[in-house]
Amino acid sequence: MSTPRAIIPLWILLLLSLSPPTLQSNPTVCIIGTGIGGSSVAHFLRQYSPDPTRILMFERNGVVGGRMATVTISGETFEAGASILHPKNYHVLNYTKLLTLKRREPSSSDSFGIWNGKKFLLKTISARSWKVPIVEKMVSLVNSVYLFVRYGFSLLKMQTFVDDTVERFLNYYQAVEGRPVFESVDEMLEWAGLFNLTTRTLEDQLIDVKISPLLMQELITVITRINYGQSIYMSGLAGAVSLAGSGGGLWAVEGGNWQMAAGLINSSDVELHLHEEIESISYLGEYYELNSTKGSSYACEVTVVATPLDELDIHFSPPISIPKRKLQHTHATFVRGVLNPVYFGMDDVSKIPDLVGTIEDPDLPFTSISVLKQHSEKDFTYKIFSRKPMADALLDNIFRVRKETIQINWGAYPHYKAPEVFAPFVLDGQHLYYVNAFENAASTMETSAVAAENVARLILSRFFSKASLSSSNLKSSTSDEEHLHQDL
Ligand SMILES: Cc1cc2nc3c(=O)[nH]c(=O)nc-3n(C[C@H](O)[C@H](O)[C@H](O)COP(=O)(O)OP(=O)(O)OC[C@H]3O[C@@H](n4cnc5c(N)ncnc54)[C@H](O)[C@@H]3O)c2cc1C
Ligand SMILES: *[C@@H]1O[C@H](CO)[C@@H](O)[C@H](O)[C@H]1NC(C)=O
Ligand SMILES: *[C@@H]1O[C@H](CO)[C@@H](O)[C@H](O)[C@H]1NC(C)=O
Ligand SMILES: *[C@@H]1O[C@H](CO)[C@@H](O)[C@H](O)[C@H]1NC(C)=O
Ligand SMILES: *[C@@H]1O[C@H](CO)[C@@H](O)[C@H](O)[C@H]1NC(C)=O
Repeated sequence: MSTPRAIIPLWILLLLSLSPPTLQSNPTVCIIGTGIGGSSVAHFLRQYSPDPTRILMFERNGVVGGRMATVTISGETFEAGASILHPKNYHVLNYTKLLTLKRREPSSSDSFGIWNGKKFLLKTISARSWKVPIVEKMVSLVNSVYLFVRYGFSLLKMQTFVDDTVERFLNYYQAVEGRPVFESVDEMLEWAGLFNLTTRTLEDQLIDVKISPLLMQELITVITRINYGQSIYMSGLAGAVSLAGSGGGLWAVEGGNWQMAAGLINSSDVELHLHEEIESISYLGEYYELNSTKGSSYACEVTVVATPLDELDIHFSPPISIPKRKLQHTHATFVRGVLNPVYFGMDDVSKIPDLVGTIEDPDLPFTSISVLKQHSEKDFTYKIFSRKPMADALLDNIFRVRKETIQINWGAYPHYKAPEVFAPFVLDGQHLYYVNAFENAASTMETSAVAAENVARLILSRFFSKASLSSSNLKSSTSDEEHLHQDL
């Protein structure tokens, strides 16, 4: 690397040693969106770079966290959006340590049933009434045997398929020294051996590993419906991720997952603009001009979009083009009250499983109903997921008592369709970045953090390495020369 140094004209070195352009001495990075994606970009920029960059963050809401949000019903607070984390979600695990947040087990469902609209196809038995560890263990064993009798070795094949996918994903935690910075989602997935999973449906992948149709139509369908509101015709990678989200060791942040975003923003020396929606992003040659609903303009050398663009109408100049993508809407309905056992063909509410999953049938008005908390024998808080809003008349049918109801319509995650076509991480070939391009692979808090870490490294390698010309990045000197020529 010492020979090329001689080729660099002396005047360039002189120019660089003189006062560098103000643009590069104290650049501003603007991040749109304060979910786990945006806050992770800020965090990793600070972690990987000592440069005194200004970081501005914009959030249209009055709170940070985005799809990590809580809902308060009858005075008690629950996760309204993203709720569970996997034991191998290492970035978010690190966040909880860094921010000294407490972890908790998610509100566990003691019993589980698969409802087809007329009857339960499957119902595990509950250990709750005994409260004796030995009995609980036995009950759990009986349930395992029961599931095994119904689904056989397909259960093990499913586990192998999930473990294999998780194993490949762990590549993204390799030390930065040996891990490339990825310019595109395709390249990023290819490198970990995950790309093929996005090119075919989950059903096709499961047929490949010889999983029985019964397991697919029942348990696996129930899981993809709960986690992504979609069927086994969704793409394979997101499907595998949703199956991983149904295993053991799951956790959540005590007091709300949104605190991870709040803590990362607080610890990353960020200028936070709440209640400020960005309406337009215009590239003016050396920087982007961001205009907000407050009538303010901001000049940013680097701009990061950390929210799905599919349902937004931010005006881009020059225009950008990304593949069309539909968001899957999930209606989350929270009810304080008591279910109506008659609706489920039962004589007592205690016989209804804590988690009611459903199979794929267009006549079913909901995807799942789960108990978030049992307050007393006849007083519960429930969460219902559905693809369409739950009408009052329908809720009156399903519930015997309904003291309070809150409905949230989430533009929840992409509608996964194989083969997936990915938007670029760099939207304009310059310094406009898009974290949520990765959501077509899978949408979770951790995958957002993984995509954000890569985008932070991409920013540092594409923008900041130019500012400090050292022997290690002489390769990029040609583009520096171009910039200098433009300036002169
Ligand atoms: C019901 C539901 C259940 C889920 N369950 C899980 C789960 O159990 N586990 C899991 O890991 N994941 C789950 N997810 C997925 C998870 O929530 C997302 O993958 C993740 O939170 C996405 O984070 P993000 O930062 O990319 O986007 P977001 O959290 O959506 O953040 C984007 C932010 O940008 C803001 N914004 C948008 N436009 C503008 C603008 N023009 N100007 C300023 N601000 C703007 C938005 O208000 C928002 O705050 C679930 C999602 C939903 C909806
Ligand atoms: C988590 O933090 C530890 C200690 O700071 C670090 O060694 C490790 O690499 C981090 N893990 C990830 C996945 O970033
Ligand atoms: C992905 O599919 C291609 C083409 O079928 C194949 O050559 C390649 O080996 C596959 N990669 C992985 C990691 O399975
Ligand atoms: C913000 O960070 C500071 C230290 O940097 C810490 O003392 C404070 O408790 C944090 N506040 C929140 C709300 O996390
Ligand atoms: C943004 O605001 C500036 C200053 O008010 C204005 O000159 C510019 O035309 C605006 N850009 C767009 C795209 O509206």
